Parts: sequence; C-alpha cells; structure tokens
Amino acid sequence: MTVFPSAKPSSAAVPNELFDPKALAHRALAGPPFTKEEMLALLRDPEDPEVLHILCRAAHLVRLKVFGNVLVLRGIIEFSNICRNDCLYCGLRRSNRNLVRYRMDEEEIFAAVERAIRMGFRRIVLQSGEDGAWHPDRLVRLVREIVTRYGVVLTLSVGELPFEAYRRLMDAGAYRYLMRHETSDPELYARLHPGTSFGVRREHLYTLKSLGYATGPGMMVGLPGQTLESLVDDVIFMRELRAEMAGVGPFIPHPETPLRDAAPGSPILTLKMVALTRLNLPETHLPATTALRVAFRDNPHLPLLCGPNVVMPDVTPPRWKVHYDLYPGKTKADLVDDGENVYAYWERQAAEVGLVVD
Ligand code: 5AD
Repeated sequence: MTVFPSAKPSSAAVPNELFDPKALAHRALAGPPFTKEEMLALLRDPEDPEVLHILCRAAHLVRLKVFGNVLVLRGIIEFSNICRNDCLYCGLRRSNRNLVRYRMDEEEIFAAVERAIRMGFRRIVLQSGEDGAWHPDRLVRLVREIVTRYGVVLTLSVGELPFEAYRRLMDAGAYRYLMRHETSDPELYARLHPGTSFGVRREHLYTLKSLGYATGPGMMVGLPGQTLESLVDDVIFMRELRAEMAGVGPFIPHPETPLRDAAPGSPILTLKMVALTRLNLPETHLPATTALRVAFRDNPHLPLLCGPNVVMPDVTPPRWKVHYDLYPGKTKADLVDDGENVYAYWERQAAEVGLVVD
C-alpha cells in the first residue's frame, strides 16, 4: 500500500533546513522553538503533499525518539450525550432535537469499565456533554469509586465545571483532563460558542493546569472563517500552556447543525497541524483523534505515522455509542463489530505500522 501521496518537486524558495525531516526533528528536540513565521512558511501551500510527507517524517522521528514504538491506548466511555451548550458545529448541541438522548447511570458505567478492562484497557476516559444531572458531587463519587475499585488511570472530559469541582475531582483520583480550546481565535470562538468566550475557556485550562492536571487542549482544523495564522496560534497556545495532551482533528459538518453546509476541514492540512503539534510539543500525548481517523478512513495507517502516540477507541456500550453523534462518521470510526475486542483490533493495527500497544 502507498502510505504517502507521491512527492512532487518543490518550487518554493525557502530555507532548506526548514524542509528537511531530520533537521526539523532535531530542531524540535533541541530548539530553539519554531517561530510563527517558520510555521506559516511550512503551511504556505496547505494541500502540498510533499510538505506533508516532510512534516510527517519529522514528527514520526520525534515520536519515536520520545515514546519509542509504543502506542498508548485509552478506552473512552461516553456516558451522557445530554448537553446544555449550543456549539454551532456539534451534533450534541442542545438545539438538535433529532438526537436520541441518553444518560448512563453508575451501574452501567461500572459495567462499561469492567468490559473495557476485560478487553485489555488499563486507562479509561470518561466523556460526556455538559449534563447538569451529573452534578460535580455525583462525579466525585463516581471517580473515587472507579479509581478505588478498578485501579485504572482515569481521564475526565466532561466540559467546564466550577473551579472547586476540579480540585475535588483530582482529590478523588482523576489526574488528567481533556478540554479542547477548539480555536484560539477569540472572534471565531465567540461565533461558535453562544454565550461564552475564548477567555473563559483559557481560564479553565490554566486552572486545570495549575491544579496539577495533565491538561489536554486541542482544536478543530478547517472551521469556517479560520485562518492559517490562527491555526499556528493554536499550536503556540498549547505550547505556552505546556499541554500534556493535545487533540487535533478536522472539522466535519453535521447535518443537524447551523454549519451543515460549511466546507469540511482539509484532511491534509489537519495532518500537517498534527505533525506541527508534535514538532512543537515533543513530549505531549497526541492522539490520532477519531475525527482524523474518519477523515483518513481510506488510508488508516497514515495518521499513525505523523506524530500521534495515542489512540482512544470507543468502549461505550454499543446501544448508546450510536447516539454519541458529534459529527458524521463518528459512531462508526473503529472498524470493528460490536462484539469484537477493540483493544485486540488496535494491537493488530499498531503491528501493521511497527508499533506495539501499551
Ligand atoms: N467536527 C469535528 N469535531 C467536532 N467536535 C464536535 N463537533 C465536531 C465536528 N462537527 C469535537 C470538538 C469537541 C470534541 C468532543 O469533539 O472539538 O471538543
């Protein structure tokens, strides 16, 4: 199989060391930090497959240097798709009336954790919409119970909570928190997120960070009105935050949202942003996000060879999983049958590109 699109000769007059995989990887590991201008130069022709090839090779070299050939698996349980927010891009937005809503209870979540453990997972992500019925007190009890009962490494991804709840959740045993910043362009952020602002999101992320959480921001690539410059700012934002994790995926328009007719994010540009994120944050846990894998369904090895060291397979019970419909393709992203072991599936996928799962 041809993994990379074929290279074409470069015409741009640009400093050579910026377009050489080994030099890029060395620069990423030894510094100095990439400047905004350098990153914009690398993105000048967003669809150029040759530059994609160079960035991917560099990012893969860095991930091999930092993480060896290990692919980290985290099973994600999406325990409620009920959300108080109305984000313009998201299928779970409050205004979407054409979605079956569900909320798993404690017993169902414990059963889902046990099922994931039986498959082989030792790291679990609990994700949900911003569901008021999962009050922080209840979340705290859930986290404490899961951590003490099962001894799994637990990551939370449940949106914005009162700052004091973050502290109690950490006391209960959650040490990792995913909260994408979505876009670092304040105007675009405000347009996409009614009633809130990028400043609020930044404050939540810095609070999580200061409490000691391994913090995971991230952005969508190809949002309507997003510029290349703001994408570079996204990377710089995550670098300044010293993010321990970073989720980068393409925007995929959802038919039940106001952005239904918007153009989808470019898969090639998204992959370049993933690679650039790796080059700027060499030690960050970087997943091949679900949306990225959906965008590269026909070339599934490619995302794994551009810098990511993590995959987060969906281990939500099949009956609910189909309703966690963030964007088209999402609920069928792992190409396994419901009965099949998705951990074993990723062991095989990893082996095909010379990686071993942990
Ligand atoms: N396309 C791509 N990603 C999306 N997300 C939500 N809706 C979409 C969409 N239409 C992402 C957001 C959110 C994460 C859970 O899913 O970045 O933080």
